[in-house]
Amino acid sequence: MKHYLTLNHLPNLETAVAEAIALKKDPFQFEKIGRNKTLGMLFFNPSLRTRLSTQKAAQQLGIKTMIMNFSNEAWALEYEDGTQMSGLRSEHIREAAAVISQYCDVVAIRAFASLTDKQKDEQEIVLNSFIKFATIPVINMESATSHPLQALADAITLKEYQQKSRPKIVLTWAPHPKALPHAVGNSFARMMGHQDADFVIANPKGYDLDPRITNGVTVVHNQAEALKGADVVYAKNWSSYDSYGQILRTDNKWMLTPEKMEQTNNAAFMHCLPIRRNVVVSDGVLDSTHSKVIEQANNRTFAAAAVLKTLLS
Ligand code: CP
Repeated sequence: MKHYLTLNHLPNLETAVAEAIALKKDPFQFEKIGRNKTLGMLFFNPSLRTRLSTQKAAQQLGIKTMIMNFSNEAWALEYEDGTQMSGLRSEHIREAAAVISQYCDVVAIRAFASLTDKQKDEQEIVLNSFIKFATIPVINMESATSHPLQALADAITLKEYQQKSRPKIVLTWAPHPKALPHAVGNSFARMMGHQDADFVIANPKGYDLDPRITNGVTVVHNQAEALKGADVVYAKNWSSYDSYGQILRTDNKWMLTPEKMEQTNNAAFMHCLPIRRNVVVSDGVLDSTHSKVIEQANNRTFAAAAVLKTLLS
């Protein structure tokens, strides 16, 4: 594996999950692997879990980290070639990526979707520019269209929780006051393509994810129907993909409640966090014993460790 930009870059998802679970049991077993290695972590957007879990994973592997917030610490980057840089952007990606490659052995990048220009977002300009001009492996810490570290942690959580063969797993859209990207939903759907499960996506009309990603997946527009008999319910908001970046509804009819969870097969509840209480899901679901969100966040460390170890091996 040269880079980790999407889940498809893993040589084998099942092996990566097994490796992460082994690392979770004995996190310091490979602490010599990262000796004299440095991971650069570049954030163009905020983070709690991704930043801390990836840093912790690096520590467990003996890797040193350097962190930079590009939103307020670094020079604003120019990505266009051949442009006259007389505006606000002070540094070209060509130099920035090449220089970071002198200081680091691996670089991890978080750069969200703008949600204003679908075509530009799908070009993944930040991530792909680093791929082009850096000389070291690149890890995606959530880009415009995917969040593969989250999806690997989700696969670990599903594996640890699995109670029967071919469970019913529902990814349900949930309300949110802000327009959110599609990255988590996309990567979860991609990850489910590797699972032996009855996978259903439930979202209101107008909120279908990119059909190139959900091709072959059952998509329904009736949440109650989808939740019936579910073994795992994963809630997540995303803005409209068709009416790109738009919020099409502001009611709370799709908020997940204990009454709705009663229609499931005692389903486990998952969410990538951060989560808005009593907007996305009510306290009763989040505080119930069915909620796996803290373990899911814990698994972010071992997902990152498995990826870092593979890249350094
Ligand atoms: N789930 C996740 O990526 O969390 P952060 O945005 O806090 O990193």
